[in-house]
Amino acid sequence: MDGPGDEYAAWASGEGARQYFDEIGIQELDRLVKDVRGRVSLEVHLRFLARFVQPGWRVLEIGAGPGRFTVGLARLGAKVLVTDISGVQLRLNADFVAAQGYEKAVERREVLDLREVGRFGGEGFDAVVAFGGPLSYLFEGEAQALAGMLSAVRPGGVVLASVMSLYGTWRVALPIAAELAARYGPEVISAILATGDLRVVPERAHVCRLFTWDQVVELVEQAGGTLLAGSASNWASLGDSEALAYLEADEERWSRFLDQETMACNASGARDGGTHVLFAVGRRD
Ligand SMILES: C[S@@+](CC[C@H](N)C(=O)[O-])C[C@H]1O[C@@H](n2cnc3c(N)ncnc32)[C@H](O)[C@@H]1O
Repeated sequence: MDGPGDEYAAWASGEGARQYFDEIGIQELDRLVKDVRGRVSLEVHLRFLARFVQPGWRVLEIGAGPGRFTVGLARLGAKVLVTDISGVQLRLNADFVAAQGYEKAVERREVLDLREVGRFGGEGFDAVVAFGGPLSYLFEGEAQALAGMLSAVRPGGVVLASVMSLYGTWRVALPIAAELAARYGPEVISAILATGDLRVVPERAHVCRLFTWDQVVELVEQAGGTLLAGSASNWASLGDSEALAYLEADEERWSRFLDQETMACNASGARDGGTHVLFAVGRRD
């Protein structure tokens, strides 16, 4: 199986991701609320933020998209410098954050390609947050980008990120994987599992790099950081939809389930099993 062809050249430079997120626009706001999987993912990410972020912290948010985590950070009492590669997503972020009543928590908004995060080196942020996969859209240079994120936080500060999960996505998207194998041959799935790079599949409107937990550990090592915590973003919530609807129908049942689900996601054995892999990284100094 060949590697990615010219068809995805724009994705290697960041232009593909920018165009894609400009085009999907407001649809991105629905991703974390439209189904049970998204709602659980939102909750697990918010709880991960709450474990680390303190009131009064100054945070650089990368790939902020339409702002669900900008609002989450604001609710925790943080002041946020909001960035994204997509100007459309930044405008949606301004609308959503204002509608939620948290615009005062935003320091400013800037277009930023994660590849250029080095320009914030030495800024001494308390935290840098890149949730929902900005690191999954680089296709190379992820360790350099993570090192740049670490250089933007003060000693004792933290980088919080999530990337798309290889094995968890395969589990959730098994019907799509079967379809791809039928259309392009089973080697295409072997190539994805070997590289995590969705550019091995022809004719995709959206591509990204999927990560295993071991690759995240290696990435943190290469970037010169210290791994502080890891989590999956879904575990039991990827299971039977009827059981999940029953659990979600009752507030108390759902709240207890979310506690249990967060505990499971945090277990080391679950880290490859969700849609995303979350991780917290500190500086070594
Ligand atoms: C799946 S969305 C996640 C948005 C938000 N963080 C969330 O979790 O809801 C990915 C975001 O990353 C942004 N993005 C993609 N590649 C990027 C890059 N190289 N640098 C900065 N942002 C990028 C996209 O524009 C998009 O807003």
